[in-house]
Amino acid sequence: MSSEPLLGTPGTSSSPSPTLAKRKAILTTVVVPILLLAGIIFVAIKGEGIPKDDLGKARYYLKSSPVLDGHVDLPIAMREIYGNNLSAFDLNGPLPGHYDTSRARKGHLGGFFWAIFTECREEEEGADFMIPSVTVRDTLEQIDLSVNLIEKYSSDYALCRTADDVMAAIRAGKIASLLGMEGAHMLGNSLGVLRTYYDLGVRYLTLTHSCNNAFADSAGIFGDVEERWGGLSPLGRELVKEMNRLGIIVDLSHVSDKTALQALSITRAPVMWSHSCARHFNDMQRNIPDEVLDKVGKGKGKVDGVVMVNFYNNFALPKDQAPFANVSTIADHIEYIADRIGRHHVGIGSDYDGVEVTPAGLEDVSKYPNLFAELIKRGWNQRDLSLLAGGNLLRIMRGVEDVSKKLRKHESPNMAKYDKRHDLDGHKIDF
Ligand SMILES: *[C@@H]1O[C@H](CO)[C@@H](O)[C@H](O)[C@H]1NC(C)=O
Ligand SMILES: *[C@@H]1O[C@H](CO)[C@@H](O)[C@H](O)[C@H]1NC(C)=O
Repeated sequence: MSSEPLLGTPGTSSSPSPTLAKRKAILTTVVVPILLLAGIIFVAIKGEGIPKDDLGKARYYLKSSPVLDGHVDLPIAMREIYGNNLSAFDLNGPLPGHYDTSRARKGHLGGFFWAIFTECREEEEGADFMIPSVTVRDTLEQIDLSVNLIEKYSSDYALCRTADDVMAAIRAGKIASLLGMEGAHMLGNSLGVLRTYYDLGVRYLTLTHSCNNAFADSAGIFGDVEERWGGLSPLGRELVKEMNRLGIIVDLSHVSDKTALQALSITRAPVMWSHSCARHFNDMQRNIPDEVLDKVGKGKGKVDGVVMVNFYNNFALPKDQAPFANVSTIADHIEYIADRIGRHHVGIGSDYDGVEVTPAGLEDVSKYPNLFAELIKRGWNQRDLSLLAGGNLLRIMRGVEDVSKKLRKHESPNMAKYDKRHDLDGHKIDF
């Protein structure tokens, strides 16, 4: 603590008068110690305010560092239940799924990525994915639904495009609302469509859903998918580069191992898994193998990233054990990933409203504190929990924003085109 500003008020002489010097001495010998003591007492009292039980502690920590969830399927649930009719339901609740505002508030949810999702329909898209049919329309409808809900309930929600927006929304007591797009099949094979989605607010793109698409191979969900490109297609490589330039996070949930490894080797910006489990506990392609996890981190050959852990029973555990998934199961995934690649690389990606069953103790968005309590029991401290809750995601977002700012200075919009498309060949009118 410095007393200089008090003494250096405008208009007074630069060399303090004897009286001023005396006052300064009183300040440093009497006032400063009193203030320090008051500070210590304040901290002690405040410290006593921290609850002793794990759940109380979890709620206390989450008040200052609320959960930022990487994947909530609210928009597609509202499409399927209410046909996207905003007047037909009240977002404050009660709603039939895992999400509504009242439960989100109870669960200390500070923000989330609204999953913009339409089913991939590989059969209807044709052998070369050349018939995206109604997918782009349906995707736009899901964006429209999301931004209109955020607007309609603007006393509780704010549409966010940057990490700073997220911080500002939380400070204003709102649920920070980001748009994440679950599958490049929604691009209609077009980087121009990607750029338009960016302008509408989309800030992550999962390279695939459960089907292969024109850009990349998928891991499938329960059945494995036969590989088409051997990872990324040539256009998929251009897609990753263009996402880096635009500032859209490369999301590697749902993709095949080869797609993940190739994307990690070419991305110039941090990456995320918006909702994925570790394959260590359940050997299915949809989960992340150690080989891929080991590419995440700091240092040579590694990429900064955040693995936001999925709560879905059937990803977390093999089929015979899945019905018994509980809070401990999900904590196991978080700890396994954190032990392997560090607590700076984990987050929460519940998949709420996108799955039919959820673990005991994590039934819906009101239950996040149970998971934090379980980790407190296992020795996690406030700093690590705040990284898990949202700090790591914000770091990745900032990293992606910084790379984009740099790349935009010398890279132009990517004009790469799907080689199967001839409608954009030009030379159709000869003036
Ligand atoms: C939307 O929902 C409201 C309230 O249930 C209903 O009155 C209205 O008819 C619905 N609109 C359409 C187009 O279905
Ligand atoms: C989760 O289930 C396991 C065994 O099925 C049990 O040992 C553990 O205590 C449970 N955890 C919680 C938090 O209920």
